[in-house]
Amino acid sequence: MADRDRHRPLGVVTRGTTNPNRLRRVDNWLVETCGDRLRAAADPLVVDLGYGATPVTAVELRGRLATRVRADVRVVGLEIDPVRVAAAAPAADPPGLAFARGGFELAGLRPTLVRAFNVLRQYDESEVADAWRTVTDRLAPGGVLVEGTCDELGRLGGWLLIDADGPRTLTLAARLTTLESPAQLAERLPKALIHRNVPGERIHALLRALDDAWHSAAGYAPFGPRQRWLAAVTTLSSTGWPILDGPPRWRHGELTLPWQTIAPT
Ligand SMILES: C[S@@+](CC[C@H](N)C(=O)[O-])C[C@H]1O[C@@H](n2cnc3c(N)ncnc32)[C@H](O)[C@@H]1O
Repeated sequence: MADRDRHRPLGVVTRGTTNPNRLRRVDNWLVETCGDRLRAAADPLVVDLGYGATPVTAVELRGRLATRVRADVRVVGLEIDPVRVAAAAPAADPPGLAFARGGFELAGLRPTLVRAFNVLRQYDESEVADAWRTVTDRLAPGGVLVEGTCDELGRLGGWLLIDADGPRTLTLAARLTTLESPAQLAERLPKALIHRNVPGERIHALLRALDDAWHSAAGYAPFGPRQRWLAAVTTLSSTGWPILDGPPRWRHGELTLPWQTIAPT
């Protein structure tokens, strides 16, 4: 293979839409669920893959991890669009925050954690598995990829935790004060699931069950949407859906399940 090809960023330039605090929900989840992994890492390197038109979400990720996980965390924002790499340069703050051109090959880095948000949404579903594999092959031992999608303001989102063996969990998350119905989460499923929300698929059954439980919990609405969500998730759990974590995370409007319970059939 020619040297030029070995270092060619893998992927394509897509729309650069981003927003301040758009990824706050997933960042908080990362702090809680991947914090120990980063604390134990010999090199606390994190890649924000595909940060978009401005580096704001990479800056925020570094701030959250440095404050709440470990001060010496190093976040590298990788973008496949060289114009966006140049635009991000003034926000760099080495060694804690840097920006570089790169794609799914991770520009030769071996991070413990990769956050790739709203990147695969514009790819074809058939490209997803290869993209995951390209990233996970390059992680540090024990490293993980968190790949997902959210709306422009980060009120609705869905993401997968993926390691060297493939996807492990799906998390759905909503800002409860603006949630009308959990069915809205269907629009923000990760790419691997968004086209599978059809009868006969497990993700469809999950969203139906969650929506039904939410409507059955309408009596909790006067106590606030958090109580209503907790009641809905408790019902879901009691009817056999293997909901992970527990009320301390559910109360944030989250729901996490093992991948195999919702994987495409
Ligand atoms: C919609 S923006 C997402 C920005 C930010 N992550 C967010 O969620 O707000 C998607 C960005 O991913 C970039 N991108 C797409 N494929 C990529 C790849 N394989 N490697 C690196 N960046 C990629 C695009 O150029 C675009 O800037």
